[in-house]
Parts: sequence; C-alpha cells; structure tokens
Amino acid sequence: MNEEEIMNTENRYLANVFSKKPIVLTSGKGAILWDINGKEYVDCASSYGVAALGHCHPRVVEAVKKQAEKLITCHSCYYNDTRAEFIKKLVNITPKGLDKAFLSNSGAESVECAIKLARKATGKSEIIGVMGAYHGKTMGALSLTWDKKYREPFMPLIPDMKHIPPDNVSKLREAITDKTAAVIMEPIRGEGGIRVPPDGYLQDVKEICTKRGILLIFDEVQTSFGRTGKLFACQNWDVTPDVMCLSKPFAGGLPIGITIAREDLMSSFKVGEHSTTYSGSPIVMAAGCAAIDVLVEEKLADKAALNGKYFKAQLEDLMVKHKTIKEIRGLGLMIGMELRCDVYNVIQKILGKGVLVIDAGRTVVRMLPPIVINKPQIDRVITVLNEALGEDENERASNTFSN
Ligand SMILES: Cc1ncc(COP(=O)(O)O)c(C=O)c1O
Repeated sequence: MNEEEIMNTENRYLANVFSKKPIVLTSGKGAILWDINGKEYVDCASSYGVAALGHCHPRVVEAVKKQAEKLITCHSCYYNDTRAEFIKKLVNITPKGLDKAFLSNSGAESVECAIKLARKATGKSEIIGVMGAYHGKTMGALSLTWDKKYREPFMPLIPDMKHIPPDNVSKLREAITDKTAAVIMEPIRGEGGIRVPPDGYLQDVKEICTKRGILLIFDEVQTSFGRTGKLFACQNWDVTPDVMCLSKPFAGGLPIGITIAREDLMSSFKVGEHSTTYSGSPIVMAAGCAAIDVLVEEKLADKAALNGKYFKAQLEDLMVKHKTIKEIRGLGLMIGMELRCDVYNVIQKILGKGVLVIDAGRTVVRMLPPIVINKPQIDRVITVLNEALGEDENERASNTFSN
C-alpha cells in the first residue's frame, strides 16, 4: 500500500478515536523514526512515553526473537520461567515494601486493578482523585480521569469517585470520609500539563493517608522507568505509596500493565476475583526482562536526569527569545513547555520540520523523548522549536496586523 492507501484504510476501518497526524511511520532506531517516504523525525513523544529505551532496542529485539521461538503464550494458571524471571527483576527495583504484583496489558488496566484492590482490601468504596488527572479511559479509570470531554459522553460512571484540587492538603483532609478507601494521584501530572508538585506535598499526602487509614495509590504509568531522573518519580520525594500503577515502557514497547502493592494488600484478592487472559505472557515478559536489564545496566535514570537538565537549559534559552513561551516545567525527560497560545498550530509546524512532540492540554507542548536521546538530537529539536515558534509568532503578528 502507498501512503495514501494506508491512511485511507486506517481511516475507513478503524474507529476514528485518535487525533491522527498526517504521517505514516514505518521504522525506528533509538530516538529516530522514519516515515514511509524515508523522512527522518527526532522522537520526543516515544509513543506517549512507551519507547523510553528508544525504538527497537537490540536487547529487546533479541529477547523477543528468542522467546518467540520458545513459547509465546502461557496463561497464568500455569507457571512460566520467563514470567518468574521478570517478576524477580521487577521487585528488585520497586520501592521497598511494594513486592506483590498483578500483570495486565495497559495503563488503564493497571488502574482498574488498583481500584478493585483498594475496595477489596479496605472494604470501602470511595476513591479520591485529583482535578486535572489522567488515569485512562476504561470505565473505572475514566471515573478518576478529570477532563469532562473524556467523561461526559459516558455518564454515569462508577459511583463513589470524587476529585479534589491538586496540591492542596486541606482539601484532601476535608474530602476523606468513613467510606474512603484510597486516594490516587500521578506524582507528576502528565496529560494535566506536566505539573510537578511543590516540595513537601507528597510527603504530607502520605502522612494524611497513614493517619486516616486510607491507601495511597500512585499512578506512575507515565512517570516511572527512570524518566524523571529516578526509577520511580515518587523517589524524588522519598514517598512510597501502598499501591503503584505501572505500564508504558516496562516491556520495551510491548503492551504491559502492572499493579504492584504491599503483600498484605494484594493478598486480599482471592483466586478468580481478578484476572486477564494475557497476564504475564512469556513474549511480553521476555521483552520486560530485557527492558529492566537495560534500565539498570545503562543507568537510564541518571541519563534522564542529565539529558533532562541539558534539554531544559536549552529550552530556557529559547524562552528568552520567544515571548510565546510562558513556562518550562518538568523533571528529567518529562518536560512541558507552556505557551501563551494554543499549541495546535505550533505542533503541526514542529511535525513538518521533523520532530514529534505531544500536547498536554490546549497550551502545553509535552516532551517525553526516549531516554537514550543524545545531545545533537536535542540540539536538533531546539532548532526546530525555535523555527516553529518564530514562524507561528510571525503569522499571528501578521494576522493581528491585517485584522
Ligand atoms: C498517568 C497515566 N495513567 C494511565 C494511563 C492510561 O494508560 P493506557 O493508555 O495504556 O490505558 C496513561 C496514559 O497515557 C497515563 O499517562
């Protein structure tokens, strides 16, 4: 199929629920992607944070090939060598005390499991979420996701879910009732605009949860795997939750969801109360083993901290040149550039110039590049951003002039 046929086929036969960009990507290596015409892109999107290791990391490719020849699927009602190896590697790196997991296939599923677990372990029904949060689009996760545009068409959602303003401990104290099972939050809100909490906030939340006997769930689907300069973002503030939701990069690009909790909590699930057919499929587990090995051996968290510092410094220089930039936020390689205008036009221009970024709301350009991105590639991104912002500013100035 040629480029046009590919686009027409997807548009005709797949649900039109994605805001499509007019490119056909066909291959990738590290932080670089190529489209069907051979045009090169620096990837600052990583498929929404999945490709933290870069595209087609050789260790992941090798592990998948090997496992594919051995055993691809194996239901969790049977034991499997690769699954056991993966879970051992995982609990070796998770914060102390979080060592019993349920494996699924996506971020939303990891949240679904956390919701059920919180209700089962506490015998209470209410979960408190945060305004601006994103937890996915299945019915349970959606009930805790904030944006009206995602929620309203599907009302009624599941009961006893409520939202409090972010970074506000008094509102949290007020919201807790006798029915509260847990509070869930992203340590750094991703889709909500790359919002880093003020120092001390997460420690206060933990203290309140402990005092009031409710569970703390961290959704680290976007913030973990070294991206923020620590293996898990909560480690930036030394706060360990009771339950943690993981997903995106943990299987080197293959679909995975992980809900990991204290053993006493996870043990409240009895046989049959939660499951999924693909839980811990050997092929995904093999990719996951390779991914965790690379994460640890190549010290990707340190790399993210270093690359992130360089990237942010370059962006701050850009801010001096472009009044359109309102703020640069983030930790490590989870970076948001808030503009004083809608980002849509700017993102289109950036794409045309060979860089992939994503939005985080109407005014924030979100950058989640592969952690293996190098300095020359970051410099290329900065050049493109500079040009795109300049062109957008000129266009808006001339529109204002002609109006
Ligand atoms: C923090 C967070 N939680 C949950 C999800 C949902 O993950 P998925 O799209 O894999 O269902 C996402 C996806 O972007 C996310 O960023």
